[in-house]
Amino acid sequence: MSKYIVEDSRKVTTRRLIEMKKKGEKIAMLTAYDFTMASLVDAGGVDVILVGDSASNVMAGNMTTLPITLDQMIYHAKSVVRGVKRALVVVDMPFGTYQVNADEAVKNAIRIMKETHADALKLEGGEEILPSVRKILDAGIPIMGHLGLTPQSINKFGTYSVRAKDEMEAEKLRHDAKLLEEAGCFSIVLEKIPATLGEKVSSELGIPVIGIGAGGKVDGQVLVSADMLGMTADFTPRFLRRYADLQSVITDAIGNYVGDVKSMDFPNEKEQY
Ligand code: KIV
Repeated sequence: MSKYIVEDSRKVTTRRLIEMKKKGEKIAMLTAYDFTMASLVDAGGVDVILVGDSASNVMAGNMTTLPITLDQMIYHAKSVVRGVKRALVVVDMPFGTYQVNADEAVKNAIRIMKETHADALKLEGGEEILPSVRKILDAGIPIMGHLGLTPQSINKFGTYSVRAKDEMEAEKLRHDAKLLEEAGCFSIVLEKIPATLGEKVSSELGIPVIGIGAGGKVDGQVLVSADMLGMTADFTPRFLRRYADLQSVITDAIGNYVGDVKSMDFPNEKEQY
């Protein structure tokens, strides 16, 4: 097991995340979309790995998360699950797979769980998707909610700016968070909202609130791995802390390889049969 895991090396469960909140132990969550990255992220000791629909941006180069399909999310999630020993694996239900009606939502949710062997699903939205949330939970599938900036609704809002700055939007977010908890969600992601609101929601709920740009007084943090590893140099939101500069590391390594091939330094005597 990884040298970075300080405490419990057992597989993380939804129940354990709720216990962590009770004990005041912060939850660390990151994204992964493939086997190799998932193995590394898991070995680093994160508690939750999110197979985010941000794969649409990071892996496929789309401008938004909307184009990624159910089949593509299933492919990513299967690859991630194969690489993970400890972390809880949560899969984003992609845009269009849970908004039409609850029957379609539960059918798609069951398909993800059956084909990927992931541990839980994440859905964006509050009251408006509650029938789908209830039906999926009734099928025995754990759900993580997602409120605040919900990238699947980008065309409705037209901007990725900070959400719930005004009183009315903040009240709706608190109400939605309560509804999701009452429905049975095990956790909620809050994206890009004022830190004071993040703290308030966290104190009002018994389930863990995991923030991305929601301040330090929530119960855990999530970032997109490619962003925190410095692979996406053009993406510079205030909430992002970079822990590496992999863009330079990778392009330097590739530049060196190209130089060695061109100069016939690679392969040398020892690197051939
Ligand atoms: O898809 C994703 O990566 C996410 C995180 C930003 C929370 O939903």
